[in-house]
Amino acid sequence: MQSFRVELKPRSHPVYVGYGLLEQIGELARAEGLSGRAAVVTDSNVGPRYLTRALRALSPLDRVPLVIQVEAGERSKSLDTLARVYDRLLEARFDRHSMIVALGGGVIGDLAGFAAATFLRGVALIQVPTSFLAQVDSCLGGKTGINHPLGKNLIGAFYQPRLITADIALLESLPEREFREGLAEVVKYAAIMDEAMFAQLEQDQAAILRREPTVLEYSVAKCLRHKAAVVEGDEHEDGLRALLNFGHTVGHALEAAAGYGGLLHGEAVAIGMVAEARLSQALAGLDAGEVARLQRWLTGAGLPTEMPADWKSEKFLDALALDKKREAGQVRLVLLRKIGQGVTLSIAPQQLLRHLANP
Ligand SMILES: NC(=O)c1ccc[n+]([C@@H]2O[C@H](COP(=O)([O-])OP(=O)(O)OC[C@H]3O[C@@H](n4cnc5c(N)ncnc54)[C@H](O)[C@@H]3O)[C@@H](O)[C@H]2O)c1
Ligand SMILES: [Zn+2]
Repeated sequence: MQSFRVELKPRSHPVYVGYGLLEQIGELARAEGLSGRAAVVTDSNVGPRYLTRALRALSPLDRVPLVIQVEAGERSKSLDTLARVYDRLLEARFDRHSMIVALGGGVIGDLAGFAAATFLRGVALIQVPTSFLAQVDSCLGGKTGINHPLGKNLIGAFYQPRLITADIALLESLPEREFREGLAEVVKYAAIMDEAMFAQLEQDQAAILRREPTVLEYSVAKCLRHKAAVVEGDEHEDGLRALLNFGHTVGHALEAAAGYGGLLHGEAVAIGMVAEARLSQALAGLDAGEVARLQRWLTGAGLPTEMPADWKSEKFLDALALDKKREAGQVRLVLLRKIGQGVTLSIAPQQLLRHLANP
């Protein structure tokens, strides 16, 4: 087991990464001084698998937890589902001393996190991420929110959890495709911040794909420590935190063009990272061998790395233009100087398109 703290002044909190941690969430919550009634928010895939164990683990708390289970999938990050969460909390007379336990992937983390941020102007939040993507990325940093029919994550709040517990054992039941997409985010941290981690990932790839607990614990803990360092330096976005968008400028546009559900987020990011690495070759002096190294790792992890044949669609261009990182007519890009060193660059959308068309 590994643990560390995210240092954010009054919002500082511990993070635990290890095998079998689900069994300890009640004790860990108590150790943080949390003892009020808990509502466990989960989804229809995770609940049937892990709720019993989660509830047993929460038994050291004062009262029997309330369970709020929503449909699995992105569509639950909606105002309707959020309203149902509030209804259930109010019906059960939850008060300001209660807490919300987000037991699920990024969808649950964002939804339950936003509920915690807003219910009675804020109640304690415990993140128990169950997907790889949630464990290496979305559980930490305090971004919470829901989607609007006009776009993803348009409604939300920054709200830090009081505790994060990432139980590696939960990754065993993750479908293969969802597991592999999480790897795109893992290699992203290495690519932008940590060349030694990249080398380690190269060495461990087979073991990672076999989901060996020790290598997974290493990867999840590394990613979360890196994300914590970034968030500590820059809690409310931009600056340093922008580096986490490596692969995401192109990736988000591909996701939007494919229609949500066509490409998984991590798959779009894998393609985006290789496209942006090629751009880095042209604009930031990245060595061709480094681009190949990144692509080799992603391909080895079973992730796509080439732009789809029809990428130049209206939707793709619109999505790039709408990219919220766009400033003063420029698109904000993250490029690599070398593996382990990301830099940000603003570029005109037309120039970006030219490079994408002629890599
Ligand atoms: N807050 C942030 O900083 C942040 C960062 C990145 C992504 N996100 C958000 O995260 C969401 C995507 O997260 P996700 O990929 O985890 O999606 P998800 O929550 O939909 O989980 C993916 C699928 O895996 C299932 N699942 C989760 N854990 C499982 C387990 N242990 N065993 C079996 N099945 C399991 C889920 O039910 C779902 O079907 C998006 O909404 C995205 O916007 C947020
Ligand atoms: Zn991402």
